[in-house]
Amino acid sequence: MAVIRETDQFVEIMDEEIVLVKRDGVTIETLAGEEIEREAYTAELDASDIEKGTYPHYMLKETDEQPAVIRKIIQAYQNEAGDVTVNPKIVKELLDTDRIHIVACGTSYHAGLVGKNLIEKLAEVPVEVHVSSEFGYNMPLLTEKPLFIFITQSGETADSRQVLVKIKELGYRSLTITNVPGSTLDREADNTMYLHAGPEIAVASTKAYTAQIAALSILATVVGREKGLSMAIDFDLIVELGIVANAMETLVDSKETIEHIAGEYLATTRNAFFLGRHVDYFVAMEAALKLKEISYIQAEGFASGELKHGTIALIEDGTPVLALITQENINWNIRGNVKEVLARGANACILSMEGVNQPGDQFVIPKVHELLTPLASVVPCQLLAYYAALHRGCDVDKPRNLAKSVTVE
Ligand code: AGP
Repeated sequence: MAVIRETDQFVEIMDEEIVLVKRDGVTIETLAGEEIEREAYTAELDASDIEKGTYPHYMLKETDEQPAVIRKIIQAYQNEAGDVTVNPKIVKELLDTDRIHIVACGTSYHAGLVGKNLIEKLAEVPVEVHVSSEFGYNMPLLTEKPLFIFITQSGETADSRQVLVKIKELGYRSLTITNVPGSTLDREADNTMYLHAGPEIAVASTKAYTAQIAALSILATVVGREKGLSMAIDFDLIVELGIVANAMETLVDSKETIEHIAGEYLATTRNAFFLGRHVDYFVAMEAALKLKEISYIQAEGFASGELKHGTIALIEDGTPVLALITQENINWNIRGNVKEVLARGANACILSMEGVNQPGDQFVIPKVHELLTPLASVVPCQLLAYYAALHRGCDVDKPRNLAKSVTVE
């Protein structure tokens, strides 16, 4: 993306190759000095894709793009009959495996946690989710036919690539889910699913996260249907993703309300908690990461049932605690946790989904299918982080200490 205004012709450079730039041209050589011939490829990028347009920040633009990205993914993975479809080679991999290992970092790891829930419920394949940088120390006991799925927006994260190199040496199969065609993890995995989210420039990932979850829902549904599983067969994913896109439109149009909540709860605080249970806990982790990385508020995403086992000691007068509630079966449990923190002086804010909302909840999220709630509940959290960062005068798109793609271990 850095040079797309100069050219769209690129040549891949592999490990242990040297590029010699001379007056009369450029050559690629091995470490032994043999010249390598390699065709250039045309990047599917347009310089206009990486402009901010009228937006003040890329993060706001990319948050707003999420409804369109969901609709683009529906199109990209839909066949002529109007059904969701995925490359049969990839479907076969999931049908053949006896356990999936999702490997990712940061926001992509959080998407992987949601992906586990989708794949296990819709395709009934056991899934483990691993932080890439820890995988090498905690190599799981592998089954006979494991499949490794690398979720990575950039396709260049060194921690994830190191795991891919290792599992390929061990002869295991791999699938990359990425937003960047031609990236290292795209090229080096056995198969790839693309996110079609368009370039994501802001360091804080937004549209790639929701695109990852949408792609995982499609993969899980297609595999579940191949296995004749009723939940996948009965799940009208294309309609439900369309409802998600509409809900996202409503949410990105609620900026004024969300900015007000950010001002009231997060403008001056040093710390904050996001609470959730089940998939809402996974979104609470993502909400906390968004807030941390662009507003520098010490935030934690917490399993709300776990709070009373020690961490509740941190709750004091005015501590912001934001609770995500989208699932009927845990509605009253988490509301009990909110009462616990209120009793200790917390400044509590409930973001609840239509259908489980109660009078007095600070923000209501439009209803979407229970398997897809993270696609909707994350949007107000992304915007809360954005406005908190603005309130605090932080550099939203280029936060301190961070890089968009972490290519170092
Ligand atoms: C996302 O907001 C963060 N900037 C970061 O955690 C990111 O998700 C992580 O570095 C993984 O990047 P990848 O998806 O490109 O592999």
